[in-house]
Amino acid sequence: MRAVADARVAVLASGEGTNLQALLDDPVVGPWVVLAVSDRANARALERARSHEVETVFLDPSAHDDRVSFDRALLEVLLARSIDVVALAGFMRIVGPDVVRAFAGRILNVHPALLPAFPGRTSVADALVWGVKLTGVTVHFVDEEVDHGPIVFQDAVPVLPSDDWDSLEERVHEAEHRLLPAAIRALVEGRITIEGRIVRVLEKAPA
Ligand code: GAR
Repeated sequence: MRAVADARVAVLASGEGTNLQALLDDPVVGPWVVLAVSDRANARALERARSHEVETVFLDPSAHDDRVSFDRALLEVLLARSIDVVALAGFMRIVGPDVVRAFAGRILNVHPALLPAFPGRTSVADALVWGVKLTGVTVHFVDEEVDHGPIVFQDAVPVLPSDDWDSLEERVHEAEHRLLPAAIRALVEGRITIEGRIVRVLEKAPA
């Protein structure tokens, strides 16, 4: 990886982009974000990136015959921009094995539940329906299985009796907006070690 100050981070997002915003607003991580990619042309995330003068790329899934072709295009976009670290921040597509392998140990996902509970796309609603008293947020490395890779950070979010989807999602987002920038920062600064599934985040990079 290049010098920390020159790190190049790409953020993949499909929707609102509040996690992208948290990364852009982070004084350390923000300057590293050089690219936002979306599979939705009208994703608010792309607008957020543009307003920070960050390059945006829309990859149209309908322009590709299958997932392999979409993933190849995604990989080309990332490699052409010499991206060091990829953050999946509400990217609602499965990232294929070629991208995962090319960025092994350099690609993180933020997930709105305490994995391995409630994987998938409807985790906040699933937690409410299940009646759990605690849910939370996971930031994990992406591997070739969905919502599965080694866990970097987790934080619990209580589910209150008065919660509906909006109120619970808001508190889940607050936790995400702390954890994802912290994880990206630790990764870029070389403060993360992975042994099997066990991730350690060091206070300081090893000398
Ligand atoms: C976030 O809560 C993220 O954890 C979730 O989508 C939301 C995107 O919010 N991702 C998943 O559910 C992936 N399985 P944002 O667009 O405001 O950052």
